[in-house]
Amino acid sequence: MTDRSLLTPSQVLDRVLVLEMVRVTEYAAIAASHLIGRGDEKAADAAAVEAMRDALNKLAFDGTVVIGEGERDEAPMLYIGEKVGSAIGTGPKIDIALDPLEGTTITAKAGPNALAVLAIAEEGGLLHAPDTYMEKLAIGPGYPEGLVSLKKTATENVRALASAKGVKPEEIIACVLDRPRHEALIKELRAIGCGIHLIPDGDVAGVISVSNPDTTIDIYMGSGGAPEGVLAAAALRCVGGQFQGRLIFRNEDEKARARSAGITDLDRIYQLEDLAKGDVIFAATGVTDGSLLEGVRRYKTGRITTESVVMRASSGTIRRVKGDRRGDPA
Ligand code: FBP
Repeated sequence: MTDRSLLTPSQVLDRVLVLEMVRVTEYAAIAASHLIGRGDEKAADAAAVEAMRDALNKLAFDGTVVIGEGERDEAPMLYIGEKVGSAIGTGPKIDIALDPLEGTTITAKAGPNALAVLAIAEEGGLLHAPDTYMEKLAIGPGYPEGLVSLKKTATENVRALASAKGVKPEEIIACVLDRPRHEALIKELRAIGCGIHLIPDGDVAGVISVSNPDTTIDIYMGSGGAPEGVLAAAALRCVGGQFQGRLIFRNEDEKARARSAGITDLDRIYQLEDLAKGDVIFAATGVTDGSLLEGVRRYKTGRITTESVVMRASSGTIRRVKGDRRGDPA
């Protein structure tokens, strides 16, 4: 057992902060849950954003949003660069990557795997990813480092993974976002007999599923949001697994956004530690039921239950937290 008298005040604060993260994602998930299945993505997102911002502003740190709802001129709350916390200028400096509602369309349609998500790190620990697409490749823990790579074709990656797992490529299951841009990738995977789990949205949960022994997913492939890539990388830093990401630019404006975020090598392949380094804490609460978490349940008595996960890279600790409340947070 840890002798608490040996902990420094900042270590105690750290530990408190780990659990406080869950309160933040719980608040966002509960706020969004009013809008599940209501067909209004914007309202669901706005409710989650406001609740997450309020909860963050109660925490005693000097936080900076590095991955948020967008640039300052396009997002009124939780924009990139916004300062949050109740100890700005005095508390520990923390960088925050957040997505108050990962899966706005899923929530609007009451589909699976919508999450309220947050990752924090010491200042400078998270890549300031521009709001572009990112090509992503992820596998679970226990495989030789570099087994799969964005420099290889999808076929080569699946074959390498199958051989390391001791199975045929036909027995590998890949998770891919269901998008027209993935038509060629899907065709290539089907040609080698690989199983494909197509998801409508929500690639943070999709990437994490490679490290979750309760899913059938072996590998994540394809492109999605770059900010979501940083959040997924933060999670894999805690649970284990390999991840590579490469930014994709559709036009000069997106390249300019990347440069203004401090990115000089636009073709760089990012490894896990390039996206989320040092001690990282990742927290998520389920909004709708999914592979990682149960969604918010609102009972007719007014009772609300939630399921969250909070994990820490430095200790590898994973905590599942069940919330049971008498009603909405005041
Ligand atoms: P939102 O919650 O912002 O709607 O994002 C959902 C999502 O599916 C992400 O998980 C994913 O990274 C991204 O959208 C993919 O973008 P697109 O829908 O343009 O393919």
